[in-house]
Amino acid sequence: MRRGLLGGIITSYRLDRREVRMEEPSTTTRPDWTSPALRSLLGDAATLATGFLEQLPERRVAPTATADGLREELGGPLPEEPRDPRLVLADLAKAAEPGLMATAGGRYFGFVIGGNLPAALAADWLTSSWDQNAGLYVAAPAASVVEEVCGAWLTELFGLPGDASYGLVTGGQMANFTALAAARHSVLDEAGWDVEANGLIGAPRVRVIIGEERHVTIDRALRLLGLGSSSLHPVPADEQGRMRPDALRAALGETSGPTIVCAQAGNVNTGAIDPLDAICDVAGEAGAWVHVDGAFGLWAAASPASRHLTRGIERADSWATDAHKWLNVPYDSGLVFCAHPDAHRTAMGTHASYLVYSEGAERDQLDWNPEASRRARGFPVYAAIRSLGRSGVVDLVDRCCAHARRFAEALAWEPGVEVLNDVVLNQVLVRFLDTGGDHDARTRAVVKAVQEDGTCWLGGTTWQGKVAMRISVSNWSTTTDDVDRSVAAILRAASG
Ligand SMILES: Cc1ncc(COP(=O)(O)O)c(C=O)c1O
Repeated sequence: MRRGLLGGIITSYRLDRREVRMEEPSTTTRPDWTSPALRSLLGDAATLATGFLEQLPERRVAPTATADGLREELGGPLPEEPRDPRLVLADLAKAAEPGLMATAGGRYFGFVIGGNLPAALAADWLTSSWDQNAGLYVAAPAASVVEEVCGAWLTELFGLPGDASYGLVTGGQMANFTALAAARHSVLDEAGWDVEANGLIGAPRVRVIIGEERHVTIDRALRLLGLGSSSLHPVPADEQGRMRPDALRAALGETSGPTIVCAQAGNVNTGAIDPLDAICDVAGEAGAWVHVDGAFGLWAAASPASRHLTRGIERADSWATDAHKWLNVPYDSGLVFCAHPDAHRTAMGTHASYLVYSEGAERDQLDWNPEASRRARGFPVYAAIRSLGRSGVVDLVDRCCAHARRFAEALAWEPGVEVLNDVVLNQVLVRFLDTGGDHDARTRAVVKAVQEDGTCWLGGTTWQGKVAMRISVSNWSTTTDDVDRSVAAILRAASG
C-alpha cells in the first residue's frame, strides 16, 4: 500500500482511457514526517524564505501589486477539495510576493518596524513546529522556563527592579493594556475598591494623567479598561513632545483621587523621552502610579550611550515595550513589566477547574497575560537576546541611532530641507520647503515620490501642525550604504 503526502492511500484508476492517480485524504493516518514528500515541504519553505531574504538588499522595498490584483491571485471560491501542501505553499508564495513590503530589509524606515534577527527568525520557525500552547507550565514547560529567563534578562538589560513581574504579549498595545490593568487594580485597591470583583460601576473615579503626545494605544488601552476618555487629563508637552513636569504638577493639583500617570519613552514622531526622573518625583508626591510606554524608547535604557535619556526609569510602577520593534524579533512580540507583581497577577490571573496550575514554583503565563491559549513567543525573544548578548543589543541600539543621525545630517545639509526634531534616538522628521510657500504639499509630494521610487520606504506625519517625512531606523540589518542610497533617493524625489 502506498501513502501520499497527506498520509492517505494512493489509488489509481482509469478515467477516459487515462491512468489517474489520486490520494484519498486520510483523517486517521498520521502524516509521515520522515517521508521525502513532507521533508521537502519544509525544504520548500526554507528555499522560498531564504530566496526572499537573499533578495532583500537589492529588492524594491514597496510592493508592486494592487489590492485587486492580490484578490485575483489569492481569492476565488472556497476550495471544495484538498490540495497538495507543496503546491499550496508554492502558489501562496508566488501570489503573495508582489504584495509583500520589504519590512524585513535594511531600507524600510516606515512607522517603527523592526526586522528579523536570524536566530529569532529560525527560533520562530521552531516555535511553529513545536506548536506549544504557552498558557500553563503543564502544557508547555520549556516555553514557560524560557519566558522566565527572558524576563530576568530583560529586567537586567533595562535596569528595572530585579523583582519586577513581566509578561510576553502580542505588542505595545497589549503591554500598555496589561500594565494599565495592574495600575487600575492598584489605585482602586488603595481607595478601598475591588475592581476585579465589582467592576467600575460605583467605583471612585480614576483620573489618568497623560502627556498630550502619548501614543494612541494608551487611549485604546484605557478605553478597553472602562476608563473612558473623559477620565483622561492631557498634560502639555514641550517642543520635542516630552511631558512637562511643571504641567504635570499643575494637573495633579487640580483634582484628587486614585491617579495613574502615563509617561512615554520614545515619542512615535521625534523619539523624545519624557523626563522620567522628574515625572516620578512629581507623581510620587501625589501617590500616583507611573506607567511608562516605552514601545521602542525603553531600548535606550539598554545602551550606555543613550541610557541617560531614561534616567529615573526604574522608579516607575510599570513599563511597556516591544520585542518586534527594536529587538528585531518576528511579529508579534510585546513585553510588559510591573514593579508590583501582586497587582499584575490580580489584574490578569484567572482560574478554572480544568486548568492545571503549577504549585507556585513554576510560572503559568496566563496569570501575567490577557491571553489564555497563546503562542510560545518567548523562544524567538530568547534566541534574539542569546544571539546578540548584551553587547549586541547595545550595538544594535547605537547603530540605529547613528544611522538616524547620518540621515539627519545628510538631509539637513541640503538647501530647502529642514530636520524638525532633535535626533536623540532613531527617529528623524524632515520637511521640504516650497518656493511657493506650500511646504505641507511639497513634503507630502516628496514622501509619495520616495514611496513610489522603491529604493526605500518611509511614511509621513504631522508634527506640531507641520507635515513631515518620518524616518525610523529600527532594522538590525540597515547599513551605512542603505542610508546613503536612501538619502540619495529622497533628494532625487525632492528635486523632481
Ligand atoms: C510609543 C508607542 N506606544 C505603543 C505603540 C504600539 O505598539 P504595537 O504596535 O506593538 O502595539 C507604538 C507603536 O509604534 C509606539 O510607538
